[in-house]
Amino acid sequence: MKAKILEGFSKVFGDRDDIKCYFAPGRVNLIGEHTDYNGGHVFPCALTIGTYAAVAPRTDMKVRLYSLNFEGTGIKEADLSKPLNPCADYDWANYPLGVMWAFDGRGMKMSHGLDIVIAGDIPAGSGLSSSASFEVLTGYILRDRFGFEVTNQDLALIGQYSENNFNGMNCGIMDQFASAMGKADNAIFLDTATLNFEYAPIKLNGAKIVVTNSLVKHSLVTSAYNDRRNESNAALKALQAVIKCETLGDLSEEQFEANKDAITDEVAKKRGKHAVYENQRTIKAVEALKNNDLETFGKLMNASHISLRDDYETSCPECDVLAETAWSIPGVIGSRITGGGFGGCTVSIVKDEAVENFKEVITKTYEEKVGKTPEIYVVEIGDGPRTI
Ligand code: GLA
Repeated sequence: MKAKILEGFSKVFGDRDDIKCYFAPGRVNLIGEHTDYNGGHVFPCALTIGTYAAVAPRTDMKVRLYSLNFEGTGIKEADLSKPLNPCADYDWANYPLGVMWAFDGRGMKMSHGLDIVIAGDIPAGSGLSSSASFEVLTGYILRDRFGFEVTNQDLALIGQYSENNFNGMNCGIMDQFASAMGKADNAIFLDTATLNFEYAPIKLNGAKIVVTNSLVKHSLVTSAYNDRRNESNAALKALQAVIKCETLGDLSEEQFEANKDAITDEVAKKRGKHAVYENQRTIKAVEALKNNDLETFGKLMNASHISLRDDYETSCPECDVLAETAWSIPGVIGSRITGGGFGGCTVSIVKDEAVENFKEVITKTYEEKVGKTPEIYVVEIGDGPRTI
C-alpha cells in the first residue's frame, strides 16, 4: 500500500522529497452494538486493514486531496484561509476536511496547506469504519505535521466531533476510539460513559475472526441511525420518570423489566430493551473471555444479533441470512451483524478447522437466497495509527 500511495502521489502531485506516509486502522466490533451513545460498553478491535495517506506540505494555505479509491472524483481542493464548511462537492473529502475544521475550532491552526493522496483497503460501506479510520488518520497527520498537542484519545474525540458536526452523522465514540487506541491482538473493553477502558487479549485458542460482507451498502447518515438515537433517548426519558439513571447503560436487566411499563411507546420500549440488555451482554462476554469460556462468548454474540434483528431493528434480511446460516455451521462459535447496521458485515468466531467449510456453506447459501456472492475475510487485530 505504501508503494501504491507514493506512486499515486507522484502521478497526481508530482515528485517530491518531503513526503511522509501514514496509516490508521478500521475496526470490527465483537459485541456491544448501539450501546456507545447509550452510556454502555463496547468491545471492538482495530484491524490490520485501514486507510493510508502520502502527505507533503505546501507553501500556501490550500489543501488538495486525491483518493485512489475514488479516482473518478478527481482532486478535491479547499482553502484554509477561508472558513471550512461541509459541501456536497467535497464528497469523501468532507471527512478529512471536517477534522481540519475541528482542529481549527480548538485553536489548532494549520500554518500551511497539504497535498494528500489517500488509499484504503476497507471495503466502502461495509461497516468496518472506513470513515472513522480516515478521521483518525487525518488527526494523526495534523499532529505529526504541526506538532499539535493531542493524545490518541483526543484524536478519537475530535474525529467523532467532526463526524457529528461537520458530516451530520450522530455517531458515538466507538469507531474512532477503536481506530485511535487499537492494539494488536487485543480488543478494547470501553465504558463509553466514562471512557475508562481496558485491553483484553484475544486468545481465541484455535479460532479465527471471520468477517462476511453482505455487500449491502449501509449509508448511516441517510439511514435510520439518527432515529435510533432519538428512540433510545425517548426510552431513557420515560424511564427517568420512574428510576434514577443517567443513561440506559446504568440499568440492569432487572431494573429495566421492573420499570419498562413507564415507556408507553412500544418502539421506544424495544430500543431501550436492546440498549440495556446489549450492555449487560457485553460485560458478560468480556468476563467469559477472561475465563476462556468461548462458548458463552459465542452465545452472547448470537443473542446480540437476535436483539439487533428483533428489538433494535438495525439488521437487514441479507445479514440475517449470513448470521442464521453461520449458527447452523459446525465449528462456528458465534455470529452477529457488526457496526451501525442496515447492511454491512457480520462478524463470526470460527474454529480454524471449520473456516473452509464456513466459507463454502455461507457462499452457497447466500448465493441461493440472496443471489450475490458475499466477500469473506479472515481478519487480524492490528495496532492504532502510525507513520509507515
Ligand atoms: C456506528 C457508529 C458507532 C456505533 C455503531 C453501532 O458504527 O459510528 O458509534 O454507534 O454504529 O454500535
